[in-house]
Amino acid sequence: MDRDYLHRIRHAALRERVVSADQAAGLIRDGMVLGMSGFTRAGEAKAVPMALAQRAKHDPLKVTLMTGASLGNDLDKTLAEAGVLSRRIPFMSDPGLRAAINAGKVMYIDQHLSETVEQLRTRQLPAVDLAIIEAVAITETGGIVPTTSVGNSASFAILAEKVIVEINLNQSEHLQGLHDIYIPTYWPTRIPIPVVTPESRVGFPFIPIPPEKIAAIVISEKLDSSSTVTLPDAETRMIAGHLTEFLKNEVSRGRLPATLHPLQAGIGSIANAVMHGFIDSPFHDLTMYSEVLQDSTFDLMDAGKMVFASGSSITLSAPKYADVMGRFQDFKSKLVLRPQEISNHPEVVRRLGLIAINTALEFDIYGNVNSTHVMGTQMMNGIGGSGDFARNAYLSVFVTKSLAKGGRVSSVVPMVSHVDHTEHDVDILVTEQGLADLRGLAPRERARVIIANCVAPEWRDAIADYHDRAVLRGGHTPHLLEEALSWHDRLRRTGSMRAE
Ligand code: COA
Repeated sequence: MDRDYLHRIRHAALRERVVSADQAAGLIRDGMVLGMSGFTRAGEAKAVPMALAQRAKHDPLKVTLMTGASLGNDLDKTLAEAGVLSRRIPFMSDPGLRAAINAGKVMYIDQHLSETVEQLRTRQLPAVDLAIIEAVAITETGGIVPTTSVGNSASFAILAEKVIVEINLNQSEHLQGLHDIYIPTYWPTRIPIPVVTPESRVGFPFIPIPPEKIAAIVISEKLDSSSTVTLPDAETRMIAGHLTEFLKNEVSRGRLPATLHPLQAGIGSIANAVMHGFIDSPFHDLTMYSEVLQDSTFDLMDAGKMVFASGSSITLSAPKYADVMGRFQDFKSKLVLRPQEISNHPEVVRRLGLIAINTALEFDIYGNVNSTHVMGTQMMNGIGGSGDFARNAYLSVFVTKSLAKGGRVSSVVPMVSHVDHTEHDVDILVTEQGLADLRGLAPRERARVIIANCVAPEWRDAIADYHDRAVLRGGHTPHLLEEALSWHDRLRRTGSMRAE
């Protein structure tokens, strides 16, 4: 290692614990529970898990891997292919690991992202043996300064028996001071989480742990993977347009200020494109209280539309990463990264009155949303934070294109094949076709509004016909049970939902 790293390990005695990634991976034993940094491809430990996958080739072993959320650098794929993963918690988005999960080879616990460390802290989940955390630096007291994500790293490090720290020399030292590490107090005397605005700073700028817990330090240099979001297209621009019109109307009716409420936007191309749409909106002085800050956050700041953003990770496309890190000091005073249990905490989400915008794979005529399971069985990514936000937001919005798979699939269906967000947690549905405002509507009314506004024209008659016939049969939420999932069944058999 020819680069100077000693100044990044400010607790001088810890400098003796610098070892190679292979040596650090040697601390991992078969059956261990690992708590690793990493959230939506940002800030994951990189060298040690790679060394673990190499080691597993000649020394097979299995571990439970917990992270904040998805990992970059193909780590989930590499670890799955190496056969290292027995259980994976709480989120992933890698096609290779997804295949292993859907084949039943890896047991995947798909959790609300705010919940994992609460369950760890109360020993409802098996204890973390070893935490592996990427850091910018270690402080004089042994505190860990995370990099581009906080995720679950703080609680992993605090709760684990031992900690491996990966100091990443290519993560900017300007990231120091960005983080706000607050851990909720224990029951039954838990006090309110003191976050009262997106800007609130309530904790430490590092993860406070006793230095003796740091068993090894590894020096790494690999960059975060860039995000995979695609650029806004005609349809996502239309979705953004419908939502902007709706919010303008809410402002003119006095139900929202022109600064709106703090915004949360989910992962993925559609939510990112919807956020981009706010650049051309009349809203101003916007804030975010979200979990992942994507390109759109920084574009909104550059456009003078957004004044502050709180998240748990920064996940950017390659050009945006270079741009943002190149002038990070311009953004730093407008940003904070928190543990995901705080960025997603139901108490804070409700207190701040968020406008939560998340993506559906499909929704049904009554407003139930499926965000995770293709055809009700095949895991896509996981629920992530969408449930944390949707259930507790001031306004819960779900967006999706009305068609998928080249038009062979309608994203609006008679009955969703899997429910992540029930009709009770969904206020607004938007496709490129239009927007359905479900607030204050009974199921039969909701169905009419959704069918009229959200369904692609070529599917509208079929879905209206289904609803009309279901209404004849009666019920508060009318359905034809023998037909409700027939569109999915047809897709499974023929590759299209279209009638044969
Ligand atoms: N039926 C089958 N497949 C569908 C579908 C449907 N109704 N709707 C979308 N898809 C497929 C797309 O074809 C695409 O498949 P591909 O990867 O093979 O091309 C895939 O799902 C992703 O869809 P895309 O249109 O690219 O949307 P996205 O990138 O915005 O992702 C989710 C959408 C739902 C997968 C993503 O938002 C997600 O993982 N959500 C759950 C977690 C979450 O909401 N977190 C929020 C807090 S951060």
